[in-house]
Amino acid sequence: MSTNILKGKRGIIFGALNSQSIAWKVAERAHEEGATFVLTNAPIAMRMGEIKTLAEKTNSEIIPADATNLEDLDNLVTKSVERLGGKIDFVLHSIGMSPNVRKGKKYTENDYRYYMQTMDVSAISFHKTLATCMKHDALSEWGSVIALSYIAAQRIFPDYNDMADAKSLLESIARSFGYHYGIKKKVRINTISQSPTVTTAGQGIKGFKEFINFSEQMSPLGNAPALACADYCIALFSDLTKYVTMQNLFHDGGFATTGVTQKVIEQFGDE
Ligand SMILES: NC(=O)c1ccc[n+]([C@@H]2O[C@H](COP(=O)([O-])OP(=O)(O)OC[C@H]3O[C@@H](n4cnc5c(N)ncnc54)[C@H](O)[C@@H]3O)[C@@H](O)[C@H]2O)c1
Repeated sequence: MSTNILKGKRGIIFGALNSQSIAWKVAERAHEEGATFVLTNAPIAMRMGEIKTLAEKTNSEIIPADATNLEDLDNLVTKSVERLGGKIDFVLHSIGMSPNVRKGKKYTENDYRYYMQTMDVSAISFHKTLATCMKHDALSEWGSVIALSYIAAQRIFPDYNDMADAKSLLESIARSFGYHYGIKKKVRINTISQSPTVTTAGQGIKGFKEFINFSEQMSPLGNAPALACADYCIALFSDLTKYVTMQNLFHDGGFATTGVTQKVIEQFGDE
């Protein structure tokens, strides 16, 4: 259902890889709600080609950028302002990748070159994006920036590996940059801590299927689907949430504050 809540707003959406991606759903919803935006992803993801379908569907331009590369980000931010015809009102950072997870390295035996890459791609890229926007004064006053996180930033989920450390850093960057950008331009910066969701990045985590079932049973409302996450992003990009900033917002069906549910406890009955 569209209410045109983002009519006239301009955005940059990072991280739409395929139709399962959370960023893909955000792009579809933002388009339905009247926004115009640039789609971006790492050049390697572009070669897979699926993003072109989304660009056609949402009438948007694609500008490739490796989010760890400052030159790419400079080009992305300046061109986006130019092509969209004005300052940017919203940014979605929907990026995550851990070579340690990909290569099956245990957390206690992480390769440190990989570890640095995990931090750079999954967290520091958020700082770089914000710093680039600030340098070019590319964001509108009351603009809204969101990055996607996961509760492993606060609690241990062993197979999430070094991504947990990256998410802690990501959430901290949202707070710190949220302070500075808030004072300077009234830009709001938040992270959304999403339920486990079936996507390419999600499926990279060991034991993901079992884990998603556990999470479903531990959440009073069940796991939040990607489309519902997109709706939440739209709400945060809109003018109806102008004073929400520097927060980590759980979008997880109640998982974060549930100690146990009846469904789970019943699995531990008399032997
Ligand atoms: N799927 C889940 O269970 C889940 C849960 C909570 C949070 N998240 C977070 O949501 C975000 C989106 O992930 P997703 O689940 O939609 O998976 P996804 O695999 O569809 O998206 C991850 C994206 O990151 C992009 N990316 C990787 N390296 C990049 C780089 N150097 N520069 C630019 N882009 C790069 C990929 O190309 C891809 O588009 C991630 O931050 C992820 O950690 C996912």
